[in-house]
Amino acid sequence: MGPVYILGIETSCDETAAAVVGDGKTVASNVVASQINIHRQYGGVVPEVASRQHLEKITDVVEAALTGAGLSFADLGGIAVTAGPGLIGALLVGVAAAKAYAYALQIPLLAVHHLEAHLCANFLSYHELEPPLITLIASGGHTSLVLVREHLVYETLGATRDDAAGEAFDKVARLLGLPYPGGPNLEALASGGDPRAIAFPRAWLGEKSLDFSFSGLKTAVQNYLKRNNTARPEDVAASFQAAVAEVLVEKALAAARVAGVGQIALAGGVAANSAIRSLLLSRAEEKGLTCFIPPKGLCTDNAAMVACAGYYYYLARRFAPLEQEAFANYPLVSPADRP
Ligand code: KG4
Ligand code: ZN
Repeated sequence: MGPVYILGIETSCDETAAAVVGDGKTVASNVVASQINIHRQYGGVVPEVASRQHLEKITDVVEAALTGAGLSFADLGGIAVTAGPGLIGALLVGVAAAKAYAYALQIPLLAVHHLEAHLCANFLSYHELEPPLITLIASGGHTSLVLVREHLVYETLGATRDDAAGEAFDKVARLLGLPYPGGPNLEALASGGDPRAIAFPRAWLGEKSLDFSFSGLKTAVQNYLKRNNTARPEDVAASFQAAVAEVLVEKALAAARVAGVGQIALAGGVAANSAIRSLLLSRAEEKGLTCFIPPKGLCTDNAAMVACAGYYYYLARRFAPLEQEAFANYPLVSPADRP
């Protein structure tokens, strides 16, 4: 028997994405239609515009994923889709499309959580990687430390109490006058700056806490910029980035220690940041931990990670009903514990 090919669909925010993955490992195609150029003129993602764009693109993107994989609909074993969390109007387009494909093809519908998909980028990238592991998931909407005990069994050990790490990057980028999307532009600016130039605060939130807080840091940058109009933007960017990287990485190491786990994996759009990637690599090595960092294209939103997550649902025969809904707010719990 050949591999089980799962078609993944991702429309939770501003990327319309579809991908085909064989046996949860082999990326046969990975198509991402970004709306960045459309949203840039508004300085951020406009939900109504995002959902209309998804609607216009979804069938073309799915067909491009099949063509790219050299497969036809009949070769698919299941349809995986992000059911939440995210922008509700955007999610609905993907979920409705996935239900239609699953029904028309009479194959299983696999409804995955967006953060679960992000962490699966690691299983896609490292075929030998098996749970247990700690994943640091840092994106535009989330910052969480998740213990993956086994496939589809999660325990959230810490999360942000206010802004997500990516949100902090985007807000500080805006303070520095950088265009949307802030994260990558801020990283580019920071590459010409000194990360030790300004001692921005690190929010540790108590010795034992694995939670995060980034809104105070954003305010500190804002106040610094008001008081120092001769500050080099490169230094501000580099010092801010260093503060975020240090807190993310140290808390991830602490989570591994608390959970007694020797593997740490990065996930989410912010994991594309080179300062964070290299700090985790060096600190994990010092602590004797093995770290896993997916290639940047699998860190930011894509559908290959959705197809990979869907494969584990497929193996566990956790099929979603055709009444599957989309959820704007959707806590990450193990599928076995979902109502
Ligand atoms: O995972 P993602 O693509 O979408 C969400 O699920 O939110 O993450 C997007 C977030 C944005 O806040 C973006 O600014 C940030 O990830 N990001 C970065 C970098 N690339 C993307 N932040 C810092 N450095 C980067 N290189
Ligand atoms: Zn994401």
